[in-house]
Amino acid sequence: MDERCYSAPHLGARMKLDRGDHRDVRRRTLAVLGLVALALVAAACAPNATQDSLQPAGPYARKAYDLYVPVFWVATAIFVVVEGLLVYFAWKYRHRKGREGIPPQVHGNTRLEIAWTILPAIILAGVAVPTVTTIFDLAREPEGDVLNVDVLGHQWWWEFDYPEEGINTANELHIPTDRPVYLRLCAVGVGYQGQVAPSECQPGPPEGSFPATLGDSVIHSFWVPELAGTQDVIPGRTNFMVIQADEPGTYTGQCKEFCGLSHAYMKFTVVAHTPEDFEAWVAAQRAPAAMPSVGTPAAAGAEVFAGQCIACHAIDGLQGPDGQPIPIQQQSNNGPNLTHFASRGCFAGCMLETNDENLRRWLEDPPSVKAGSWMPSYNLTPEQIDQLIAYLNSLR
Ligand code: CUA
Repeated sequence: MDERCYSAPHLGARMKLDRGDHRDVRRRTLAVLGLVALALVAAACAPNATQDSLQPAGPYARKAYDLYVPVFWVATAIFVVVEGLLVYFAWKYRHRKGREGIPPQVHGNTRLEIAWTILPAIILAGVAVPTVTTIFDLAREPEGDVLNVDVLGHQWWWEFDYPEEGINTANELHIPTDRPVYLRLCAVGVGYQGQVAPSECQPGPPEGSFPATLGDSVIHSFWVPELAGTQDVIPGRTNFMVIQADEPGTYTGQCKEFCGLSHAYMKFTVVAHTPEDFEAWVAAQRAPAAMPSVGTPAAAGAEVFAGQCIACHAIDGLQGPDGQPIPIQQQSNNGPNLTHFASRGCFAGCMLETNDENLRRWLEDPPSVKAGSWMPSYNLTPEQIDQLIAYLNSLR
């Protein structure tokens, strides 16, 4: 062992260095923390941010926004006053040399006690009035020309059913502008398909025709920040909410309640059309899918689909190898209805953009792409995958 380490001069030098080191470490830590805080604040200013409830794009989102803004400023004012006083008094009565004991106490000052009880009560009551009014306003069932859509939360994708139009689609909710859309929200699982406490949403296939929906029974939450607030989607319970868009456009949404492994990938889009474009979309979606010409790869894909995929999916217009139509009731809606798959910009809970490369990845092994996916790998051959992609692309 080196004896010099224990000699006094060395120890002194060592201690001086330590103090300098500590200051450096503290400075560096503060710098890193500052940068992290700056990055977090800057992230909120992303110029092309979607899912921004501070940019309401419809009357229902605007109602929430109009409540949020005044409440935010009231809360900010209270924060500044309270924290300001706290910092001021902490500084004013800080410990100094020559200052002994504690400062004069004002415990039991009746006037102060009454003031700081009544003032917050008045502020809270003032905030409560517009809050409660807005809650009731948003919860009211819309009147007049309303579009009704059933929203079903699955693990991990959204089903959209238009009972009056006879349309069933997934992950892409199409709506007309300037018309309230009344959503009836149900979660698939308990309370679905004739299980405990039937939900009010569109039932699935006739009871007993297919195994009960796989592994759902979890709570989701439906959220399109630019069009409305959030509403939970709960098995065995039917919730409602209204969304409405001013302008045509695409608004992105997200499941907002942790619902299992791929919760973060449970996304969707809302596409708002002019009323004329919406009618055209409805007409196109109502038409059954056309069968591809015999002998094409797409026709071979339809055969693969009829053989394997209808255990979980449905395509209106699908025919068996014998050329006979396969009724939609003999297919399944455990997974998304794919009748007009190619008209959708995304699939797999909007985790993936619709293109050949993504479809190939997905069909090879879904759970490796999306953790926990209920769609298993079917060990399809590369040829079968190409055929299925050709068929899916024909489903415009
Ligand atoms: Cu569904 Cu989170």
